[in-house]
Amino acid sequence: MNIQEKSVLITGANRGIGAEIVRAFLKYGIGKVYAGVRTLSSLPDFNDARVIPVQLDITKPDDVSAAARQIDAVDILLNNAGIMNYTSILTATTAELSADMDVSYYGTVRMMQAFAPLMEKRGGGVIANVVSVVGLASVPGIEGYSASKAALFSATQAARTALKSKNIRVIGVFPGPIDTDMAKNLPLDKASPADAAEDIVKGIIADQEDIYPDPTSKQLSVLWGGNPKGLEQFFAAMAG
Ligand SMILES: NC(=O)c1ccc[n+]([C@@H]2O[C@H](COP(=O)([O-])OP(=O)(O)OC[C@H]3O[C@@H](n4cnc5c(N)ncnc54)[C@H](OP(=O)(O)O)[C@@H]3O)[C@@H](O)[C@H]2O)c1
Repeated sequence: MNIQEKSVLITGANRGIGAEIVRAFLKYGIGKVYAGVRTLSSLPDFNDARVIPVQLDITKPDDVSAAARQIDAVDILLNNAGIMNYTSILTATTAELSADMDVSYYGTVRMMQAFAPLMEKRGGGVIANVVSVVGLASVPGIEGYSASKAALFSATQAARTALKSKNIRVIGVFPGPIDTDMAKNLPLDKASPADAAEDIVKGIIADQEDIYPDPTSKQLSVLWGGNPKGLEQFFAAMAG
């Protein structure tokens, strides 16, 4: 895919992987970046006139429809926004479980529902959803988050099938541990968000359907591809 004349909307663009995805798209020559943020003042200065800030909390239907009116033409939707609660499935409250689902699952689905029709009108597009390797098998201690990412993985597959005839390609992105605020309390080796973002943008340009953007996720994808139960057991062993 040639991105030179294209526009991309990135959610959660102010920090972490999202901000680095903005930088990587700019580096690879994208035409326009719509940078979706909950709080406009939190957006870093990317020092580039191609970046257009968009006020966007994906859990708020009014924000999403306002963004879809503001951005009447977009070629790539990069659903990056996410939160992670530390939860056990046996003790978490419904509110804690809902918080993860509201962003990763319902929020991302809401974004696809709002923007796929705009892409269809333009004859096609690309949607990339940032899932996680924990959407492939549950990780102890972040069990509600894992469930929300498993739901997002399912929604990604469903959207891929539903949008194929409309020339909208749906990509799943499955990072392992990345060194951002979200992962700061995880005692694991982490990849840099800049490296992961570069891999994500290169994968989109190369028309990959599934992107594993860091060394850990690349290894885990091999394990999962050959033996899904093996990944479940690998993660379960983290519980000690
Ligand atoms: N870091 C990892 O190890 C890792 C691994 C696998 C997958 N991921 C996924 O990668 C994505 C980015 O994570 P990250 O590590 O960069 O996390 P992060 O540094 O915590 O950044 C999260 C981003 O999401 C935004 N966000 C949260 N709730 C939102 C909402 N309701 N509407 C719009 N934006 C919202 C945040 O905005 P505010 O600044 O306003 O809070 C922030 O920009 C997430 O989907 C995450 O699940 C991360």
